[in-house]
Amino acid sequence: MATANPTAIACGNRIHLSLLPSPPPRHSSSTSPFSSPLPLSRSSALSLNSRSPKDHSFTNFEKRSRKPKGMRVECAAKEPLKVMISGAPASGKGTQCKMIVEKYGLVHISTGDILRAEVSLGTEIGKKAKEFMDNGMLVPDEIVTDMVVQRLSQQDVREGGWLLDGYPRSSSQAQSLERMNIRPDIYIVLDVPDDILIDRCVGRRLDPVTGKIYHLTNFPPESEDISTRLITRSDDTPDKAKSRLETYKKNAEAILPTYLDLLNKVDGNHPREVVFKEIDSLLQKVSENAPSTENLPTIKGNSYIYMKTADSKNDSWRGIPTRLNNIPHSREIRKYFYDDVLLATKNAVADKRNRLKVEINIPELNPEMDVYRIGTLMELVRDLALSFADDGRRVKVCVQGSMGEGALAGIPLQLAGSRKILEFMDWGEYGAKGTFINIGAIGAKEVDEQDDIFILVAPQNAVGNCIIDDLKAMTDAVGSRPVILINPRLKDMPASSGIMQTMGRDKRLEYAASFENCYSFRLLYYAGSFYPIMGALRMSYPKGYEIYKRIDEPNGKEKYVIIAEFPEKPTVDEINDAFEGRTRNKEKATSGIWSFLSGIL
Ligand code: AP5
Repeated sequence: MATANPTAIACGNRIHLSLLPSPPPRHSSSTSPFSSPLPLSRSSALSLNSRSPKDHSFTNFEKRSRKPKGMRVECAAKEPLKVMISGAPASGKGTQCKMIVEKYGLVHISTGDILRAEVSLGTEIGKKAKEFMDNGMLVPDEIVTDMVVQRLSQQDVREGGWLLDGYPRSSSQAQSLERMNIRPDIYIVLDVPDDILIDRCVGRRLDPVTGKIYHLTNFPPESEDISTRLITRSDDTPDKAKSRLETYKKNAEAILPTYLDLLNKVDGNHPREVVFKEIDSLLQKVSENAPSTENLPTIKGNSYIYMKTADSKNDSWRGIPTRLNNIPHSREIRKYFYDDVLLATKNAVADKRNRLKVEINIPELNPEMDVYRIGTLMELVRDLALSFADDGRRVKVCVQGSMGEGALAGIPLQLAGSRKILEFMDWGEYGAKGTFINIGAIGAKEVDEQDDIFILVAPQNAVGNCIIDDLKAMTDAVGSRPVILINPRLKDMPASSGIMQTMGRDKRLEYAASFENCYSFRLLYYAGSFYPIMGALRMSYPKGYEIYKRIDEPNGKEKYVIIAEFPEKPTVDEINDAFEGRTRNKEKATSGIWSFLSGIL
């Protein structure tokens, strides 16, 4: 099947964009775009203040971090290890952290420990935090995030590496770290069944002198002396433990996308030494692969590489994933793009932008390519909707219904069956669908008062039928609430005779243009041979457009490096110039076929 995907062709030394057939799949994988949502997990936090309390468990903890006992893994000339450990309440994070610190000498930062220290000191922070902790709720971000960030910036942490326990605990906390470019080398999630967790909470006892964690039956204290001084945490009652578990479950999945490429799930329902053995072997691998400088390529996960660009303006962005020629895309690659879209969209919504457009043209999401997969589009929509729902918003996911009349009635081929697919998809185990997420069509009557945000799946005109009137009526009814169009195709098309369109052509075009891009991505290909990929054009709100060049490396790998940035979408000529290392006079217009192509771009 031919494709209208803009690709670049070499013309002499010059590279031009051109319409070429789509690249055929090179490798296939059996990953299904309908795979169920990610396993439940989530990160825990770590924390600390910049000040150093002298006489409570926080102090003990710090001391332990600085004086590792037993064998210690040295990572000479390498970046210090950065580890995040997460898991439900009583999954064994604290227990494992103690063992990790002893072997690896990392600085353990536990938000729970720090907060408890604040509470026992009776500080202002402690007074504010206590109420939340006692109710099994998260302490507000502004308190916790500050503590963590301050602690992470201290010299011992920078030199010795860190072990973050209990932070981030929500999507917004994870995003705070991402914005500051703070990422771990590995993200470990301890997985333990619910009933075991409650028993572990209720039976837990702490030694205020050594900071050691005991359990009445699993790890009873070694002596009567110790036994008499043990204390019970105020949030370790059965009711509070259940409520903490609920809070954990509500937030766990929202954090996952941020650390998906670093995720390692460990079965925590084994003796603590067995659990540690698995963690230890993961950490050994990570320390062996630890880069010696910040800008070296970093291997994340098994299948692809993220290349940090030299450009610090890219903040926490992980770079373009490689092996994009492999189709179907691996689950990791798909997830990478879902996360990328999600971040940009959330940033735009947070900035109160309310008419948004996502244009993502990886091969699997381009309906004009023969490798197009409706499942990938649905999965992207599900991830977006679930993530907004996790933030407590009511999301309406809308797919246009049948258009036209009589023999002319129908829906665009690409969308056929998609409403049914959405209805039958796995929307997670917390009953989000039907409460926080509802599925509807496009039109004014679909707008309900309780809807907070609207995601419209590939709204498009078909020959003879125009979606824009319905879309306009819907957005009028929506008012200032955000509407996000995913891969819209609103180019004007002629109406079929006898079917009246209420808006004139100019008005329709103007209306279609009123949605601003919050995310855009497309690959640029060389002409003549479809491979290799020449580069990519990416835009992610609030940044402008970036052009990346794909570079082959001698070891058979590849990387993407940024070669130009534009505040507005670049023209075809500007892209060509960027690849040739030239700057262009903005006034100079494109002409002929290239001006036609820039309309498509
Ligand atoms: P926090 O202290 O972090 O509590 P938590 O996440 O609920 O985790 P726990 O400390 O209860 O358990 P753990 O996984 O460390 O298990 P442990 O090793 O002790 O946070 C407390 C509160 O602070 C939160 O509820 C929140 O209010 C607030 N907070 C913290 N961070 C925050 C943030 N980022 N944002 C907002 N608020 C925040 O083990 C538990 C028991 O099991 C022990 O008795 C142990 O002996 C036993 N055990 C451990 N491993 C095993 C094993 N393998 N087999 C059998 N028993 C085991």
